[in-house]
Amino acid sequence: MSIRFDFANKNVVVTGGARGIGLQITRQFLEAGASVAVWDFAADSLASAKSELSAFGAKVSFQQVDVSKLASCEQAVAALPYNIDILVNNAGITRDKSFSKMSQEDFEAVIQTNLGGVFYVTKALLGKFNPDSNNKRIISISSVVALYGNFGQTNYVAAKAGVIGMTKTWSRELARKGFTANAIAPGFTLTPMVEAMPAEARKAIDDKIPTGRMGKPQDIANACLFLASDEATYITGTVLSVDGGLVC
Ligand SMILES: NC(=O)c1ccc[n+]([C@@H]2O[C@H](COP(=O)([O-])OP(=O)(O)OC[C@H]3O[C@@H](n4cnc5c(N)ncnc54)[C@H](O)[C@@H]3O)[C@@H](O)[C@H]2O)c1
Repeated sequence: MSIRFDFANKNVVVTGGARGIGLQITRQFLEAGASVAVWDFAADSLASAKSELSAFGAKVSFQQVDVSKLASCEQAVAALPYNIDILVNNAGITRDKSFSKMSQEDFEAVIQTNLGGVFYVTKALLGKFNPDSNNKRIISISSVVALYGNFGQTNYVAAKAGVIGMTKTWSRELARKGFTANAIAPGFTLTPMVEAMPAEARKAIDDKIPTGRMGKPQDIANACLFLASDEATYITGTVLSVDGGLVC
């Protein structure tokens, strides 16, 4: 039996929802009946997502937002036509370099987007959650590297570990107000960036994963829809690894 989620009458914001994992999360929420506001920075990705998701009509809306700036998030909140039930903090960037070569700018850019962005978006949207719901959801996309470190990713690992810390704190602070707060830690996931890697490099990664393959965006989206569902109401403050057994 396949699990079918029903998000009719639920409103969702997905940051970084115009491409890659975020686009798949957006698509699956729409297919399950939700209304989704896509907040993304990149005009070209917003335009292509708009055309790809046109069949969903007014159920999907698109806003150009820079999650690394609180003012941009607040403007987007003011333009939202509805209260929300579910927030997915997915937008993220990388600026990989070994620690000895990593500049202050590389460090701050990634912290500002991947950690600051989760703080700013959630802060801006907190008062916009449906006050009548006891099933409010904050889901933030961290990474498997937050759990074990990674060469060349001091900035990214610090930000993604910070996301886990904020998630655990929010799970405590917001539980009595009807929220759960959880993080997902994807392993290597086949987005266009990874698909463009040489076949040998991809094979070397596949060989290190116990299940023998990288994740698909659907694998991450499936976990996200489960955590967003009413069935996951007693799960909060957790980090769900979706990594084919890479970290276990
Ligand atoms: N792909 C992987 O292997 C992998 C593994 C672990 C975690 N993740 C995490 O999953 C999330 C999605 O990754 P992806 O591979 O789909 O990446 P991606 O680069 O394909 O998509 C990221 C999206 O975020 C948007 N974005 C970036 N900066 C933004 C900003 N300041 N404001 C608004 N939008 C912004 C981009 O425009 C893009 O649409 C990220 O948080 C990433 O760190 C990815």
